[in-house]
Amino acid sequence: MLIQHLSQQLRERDAQSMRRRRRVVEAPCLPHLTVASVGRDARPLLAFCSNDYLGLASHPALGAALAEGAHCWGAGSGASHLISGHSRVHAALETDLAEFLEPCIPKARALGFCTGYMANLALLTALGDAKATIFADKLNHASLIDGALLAKAPMQRYAHGRIDVLANQLEHCSTPIKLIVTDAVFSMDGDLAPLPELLALAERFDAWLIVDDAHGFGVLGEQGRGTLSHFGLRSERLIYMGTLGKAAGVAGAFVAAHGTIVEWLIQAARTYIYTTAAPPAIAHALRTSLQLIRGEEGERRRAQLTTLIALLRQRLGEFVAAAPQRGWTLADSSTAIQPLIVGGNEAALALSAALESRGLWVPAIRPPTVPAGSARLRITLSAAHSAHDVLKLADSLEHAAKALA
Ligand SMILES: Cc1ncc(COP(=O)(O)O)c(C=O)c1O
Repeated sequence: MLIQHLSQQLRERDAQSMRRRRRVVEAPCLPHLTVASVGRDARPLLAFCSNDYLGLASHPALGAALAEGAHCWGAGSGASHLISGHSRVHAALETDLAEFLEPCIPKARALGFCTGYMANLALLTALGDAKATIFADKLNHASLIDGALLAKAPMQRYAHGRIDVLANQLEHCSTPIKLIVTDAVFSMDGDLAPLPELLALAERFDAWLIVDDAHGFGVLGEQGRGTLSHFGLRSERLIYMGTLGKAAGVAGAFVAAHGTIVEWLIQAARTYIYTTAAPPAIAHALRTSLQLIRGEEGERRRAQLTTLIALLRQRLGEFVAAAPQRGWTLADSSTAIQPLIVGGNEAALALSAALESRGLWVPAIRPPTVPAGSARLRITLSAAHSAHDVLKLADSLEHAAKALA
């Protein structure tokens, strides 16, 4: 019965163009990849899909640091952090991260996690107890939604970016603890949350602001410190989650917050306690990544990314404006995430396939990841792209759109 039930659901997904398929990448994470897919030989593609915004994932210094870390610390941590898996290098990375975030969160303490998904589950389940209410932007990442669903606290969602709606919800909330939760850079739209206004509301209503900066850490703000720094924010009310597998180019995540909050996560967060600590070699490589992010190399890469974003927006802005009858829109984003919203699932898949036949890989994102009727190409840029790559994408989109018309 189970197999029949699942097969039926898979057929339904096929019928709605919602079946997801994995591709096998046969090269390190770079814009120019070799990719295999079912029934097809591996072939080269120019990719606009990774979250490796600074192009650090295949940086030789990080590969070398990982190897050095494995040489010093071996392959695995062997246990959870609360047993014997917490090594000196994990602790050193936490100290580095806390110091890096200190300009935004006074006296911050940091705590490392294996993934951003686990960090978000930790935050919402450990802080969202029966005395709390969680207030969440409707476009928050799945990991924040799942964390809120697992928490004992009730969740109230507010329409995307609607400060007025949130203010009203906060005003009528009677629980003593209030947690506002938001992506800093929305992962499928690329826009920024109104963090200054959200922090002002947190202050006004004695709430806490949990900021998921998966797509801002390393990219935005002074020295790549992230979206809090981009807005010049500094407050003890901020609870920050940054991921380390995107712009930082390695893996993992961290929370930076008031020391008591971090201490409570260590005591109560099940996705921290009941899992094996990440390999210490990862922490070792991440310390090098942090130095690259903060230093001149990071500055150069952020400047390159900014140039490419402007070039892409100019070319795609013209492309969209030239054919309004298609109904396509370029999302209002200033970040490395530049979605081209197409509408229907089939149209997005067809456009992605037409680009692929021209040697480009731009993923079609469909519901339930994005709202129904807003299927899109999620174009992401990296400092490892060249201006030539971006122009090739713009030209190929024009040709692909004409071929589909
Ligand atoms: C906004 C956001 N939060 C959290 C995560 C989860 O991070 P990780 O991939 O490290 O689990 C992601 C991405 O995957 C994300 O886009």
